[in-house]
Amino acid sequence: MARQFFVGGNFKMNPNTKEQSLALAAALNDAQLDPATEVVIAPPSLYLLPLKEKLRKDVQLAAQNAYFKVSGAFTGEISPAQLVDAGVPYVILGHSERRTLFHETSEIVAQKTRVALDASLNVILCIGETLEQREGGKTSEVCEAQLKAAVAVLKPEDWSKIVVAYEPVWAIGTGKVATSAQAQETHADIRSFLSKAISPAVAAATRIIYGGSVTAANCKELSTQPDVDGFLVGGASLKPEFVNIINAKK
Ligand code: G3H
Repeated sequence: MARQFFVGGNFKMNPNTKEQSLALAAALNDAQLDPATEVVIAPPSLYLLPLKEKLRKDVQLAAQNAYFKVSGAFTGEISPAQLVDAGVPYVILGHSERRTLFHETSEIVAQKTRVALDASLNVILCIGETLEQREGGKTSEVCEAQLKAAVAVLKPEDWSKIVVAYEPVWAIGTGKVATSAQAQETHADIRSFLSKAISPAVAAATRIIYGGSVTAANCKELSTQPDVDGFLVGGASLKPEFVNIINAKK
C-alpha cells in the first residue's frame, strides 16, 4: 500500500501568545489543503487545548515532547496519558534540540517512545547527524545507532504508529537544506536498515519524512524523491508558505 504523505509543523517555542497561535490555526482553517496529505501541527504544549477547540478536524495535533512515566513526581513534565486525555494523538520525540540541549540519549528517546506507544500515542521519531558526522562519512551509522535503541524496545507492529523524521542537524534552522539526492540517499539507507532490523514489510510501510530548512521553494523537488514521505517543518510552519509545503504533492 502506498505511504500517505505526511507534513508536520513544529512550532518549537513559538509564538509567544495564544492569540498568535490561534491565528496560525485560523490560517490553516481557511486554506485549501491537499486531502491526500496527513497534516499535524505541534504548538507549545500550553496551546494544545485552545488549538484543539479551534483547529479544523482534518489537521491533527502533536506535543513536542512527553516524559517516559505515566504520572508522578516529575516537575515540569507532561505524561503521554495526559496528552491522550487532552485528545492529542501525536508526540514528537528525539528532536535534535532535545537530544543536544536537554541531553536526551537514544536510550531515553527509546524509553519515551515505548511509553508513548503504550499510552496509544503516535510518535514522530527524530534522528539525524551533525555536520561533523556527515563529513566523517558517518551519516548512516549515526542514524542507525539512533534507531537501534528504538528497535530494541519496540515490537514490529509498533512501527505502524511511528513516523521517522530524518533531520540532519546541520540543516535545522540554518537555511542549508539537504539536496534531494542527499535526502533520498539517507532515507533509502534508513529504509534498508528498517528492512534488515525489523522486516521488509515494516520498512515498506513506515513513513520517513525529511526536516531541516524545508521551504515552499524547495519542498516540491524533495517531495519527488521515492523515499521522502513528507516533511517536518520548523520555521516555515509559522509562515503562510506552510500551506504550500502541505500541498507539495498537489
Ligand atoms: O522540527 C523541525 C526541524 O527542526 C526543522 O526546523 O524547518 O526551522 O529548519 P527548520
